[in-house]
Amino acid sequence: MDDFNVVDGQLCAEQVPLEAIAAAVGTPAYVYSRNTLCSHLRRFREAYAALQPKIRYAVKANSNLALLKILADEGTGFDVVSRGEITRVLQAGGDPAAIDFAGVGKRRDEIEYALEVGIDTFNVESEGELELIDRVAREQGTAARIALRVNPDVDPETHRYITTGKSENKFGLDVQRARRMCQTMSELSGVRLHGLHVHIGSQLTQVEPYVEAVRRVLGLARDIRGFHPALETINIGGGFGVHYRPNEAPEMHEFADPLVALLKDCGFEVHIEPGRLLVANAGVLLTRVLYVKQGCERRFIVADAAMNDLLRPSLYSAFHRIEPVAPRDGDTSLADVVGPICESGDFLGKERELPPLEPGDLLCIRTAGAYAFVMASNYNARPRPVEVLVDGDRFGVVRERETVEDMMRGEKTEPAAWERP
Ligand code: LLP
Repeated sequence: MDDFNVVDGQLCAEQVPLEAIAAAVGTPAYVYSRNTLCSHLRRFREAYAALQPKIRYAVKANSNLALLKILADEGTGFDVVSRGEITRVLQAGGDPAAIDFAGVGKRRDEIEYALEVGIDTFNVESEGELELIDRVAREQGTAARIALRVNPDVDPETHRYITTGKSENKFGLDVQRARRMCQTMSELSGVRLHGLHVHIGSQLTQVEPYVEAVRRVLGLARDIRGFHPALETINIGGGFGVHYRPNEAPEMHEFADPLVALLKDCGFEVHIEPGRLLVANAGVLLTRVLYVKQGCERRFIVADAAMNDLLRPSLYSAFHRIEPVAPRDGDTSLADVVGPICESGDFLGKERELPPLEPGDLLCIRTAGAYAFVMASNYNARPRPVEVLVDGDRFGVVRERETVEDMMRGEKTEPAAWERP
């Protein structure tokens, strides 16, 4: 499934020992496998081939320029959520005409920029946003291509923080409102409606809610096409779960088969927005043990990575597999793997069966290619980790480790000039 395997007793990324990477670039370090990324993309394409979908990789999952370039070279488009993400895609050589722009809070300057560079579609989430896009587009003497994001009110049965398709969530428009907006949109000369969009949540492990959401939106699309023949696209979002634990999520084809059956002859062009599924398994976080501390109740492995480097365990109680790169002989016992940050919420794994560990040992935190570096912060004034790309038997830095000076850039001990309004 991925390219992080033991070769000659050494845990490697493709053919490069992780120990060699850590020795060269230090820790903590994110390490990405080009082959894992490309093979996931290939398998994804195969699973959905019958739909000939336009793949819009969800940049928020991992926006490293090197990974974006690999995907752009492979011909994917991109789902973005900010001006910054658009700029990253363009910097990596992505095609602006293959960018869909989502999000409930697009600012005017972001809309202006997106129109200037010529993105494909704005996925619109409210009347206010539609009016602003219409106004900005008319000012620029153009018309924006629009898809309405529909909130189908389906429970995707995932973590509540990453549930987006229930009526209580801030995302999308309910079916009635979306239908009404489609009826009145022809009065606005700065927008051209061509599609509907739906995305009900992330790390989905149940197929049926996803299919039900798409079924509801397909029904609405058919209805709308009755009075708006230009409706030609359905964007079915992303959210495909991955295996943080063995067999946690359905296999790729278990999502794909019913979706293909539902959409194969529907007559709409399909856009699809996988994020995590493409990149999660393509990345690991390397961290070294600083101390091994025996608490009253348990063993603490104090590592040099912390919640600022990988937030998911602290924020969602997410599970990431942790394994020693070169396991020592001896009995395993329960341990909490924690970071140096000054709060008890700072942990990478709790109650893990781990072999004996010593300061200096290298740990590999798995499935850390998605929503990992992108959610890193400078909490406790900790610079963000280096990012490394592996390709076969070679590796190289694709984002330098942040320095303390980088972190303080733009800061002053007092204002250069005081102003009074
Ligand atoms: N499309 C839209 C409109 C989205 O909002 C998202 C993710 C995706 C596609 C991609 O979903 P994926 O295929 O990656 O599941 N930080 C959280 C995940 C937040 C997901 C936000 N939206 C985590 O670490 O689990």
